[in-house]
Amino acid sequence: MKVTPVSTALGADISGIDLSQPLTDKQLSELQSLQEQFEVLFFHHQDLTPLQQQQLAQQFGQLLEYPYVDGYTEAPYVVEIAKLEKDKLNFGGLWHSDSCYLLQPPALTMLYARQLPPLGGDTLFASMTGAYDALSSGMKAMLQNLTAKFSAGQSGGYGVREFRQNKNLDQAPRSSTHPVIRRHPDSGKLSLYVNGAHTSNFTDMTAEESAPILAYLYQHQQRPEFSYRFQWRVGSLAMWDNRTTQHNPLNDYHGHRRVMSRVMVVGEVPLGAH
Ligand code: SIN
Repeated sequence: MKVTPVSTALGADISGIDLSQPLTDKQLSELQSLQEQFEVLFFHHQDLTPLQQQQLAQQFGQLLEYPYVDGYTEAPYVVEIAKLEKDKLNFGGLWHSDSCYLLQPPALTMLYARQLPPLGGDTLFASMTGAYDALSSGMKAMLQNLTAKFSAGQSGGYGVREFRQNKNLDQAPRSSTHPVIRRHPDSGKLSLYVNGAHTSNFTDMTAEESAPILAYLYQHQQRPEFSYRFQWRVGSLAMWDNRTTQHNPLNDYHGHRRVMSRVMVVGEVPLGAH
């Protein structure tokens, strides 16, 4: 495998591996350690059916059944994420961490590009370990004692798009309380876990009281030095640590089709800083 870092914040391109084939133990452990180091791994020129994508993800852990969208018949844990020519909203079109309103949010997400617009449709990624590290010691000390409420469909286009695709809304889990500063179970690294799509308020504070601090944290975590803009090609796969990163797919290709497929690996109940 060849590893090429793509930014100072996070991310590496990985070549010399065919993800449609079962990984050897050595490849799996190398990818897991690269994932810990770079937070997002990018692969190109991959040829994956939904079933092969599901089989790839299974090698990294238990798969998560996404509550809002039905999967492919032949690969039920893999869901299609599409914006069609007629659509104005894209799926998840703001900064977020996937499904963080679940009690056990996904540890890992794998997104594969099947059809892309001629231009646009990039995804921004940001390192929340970088965002945490750059906070002042006073802010870190205050935040590490806080938890917050995370809800599905908290705001804007994300909720609307999600509900439009939803098949099981009544049964689906809608909110959880998680630490604001999250500890990675393997590396021990701390990351800033709130996000504008899903965090509503700090525990024991009103939404109004929480809003100014959250607003500061949202603009802090979107600073360019923590982020990288990924330009997809058909056959690219991005694999991100959903505990330590956030992403934001850009909605700049109206009138064109973008079709991705996504699978997620179950994570732990988020750990706090202590
Ligand atoms: C997602 O939020 O999981 C989708 C990201 C993308 O479409 O780039």
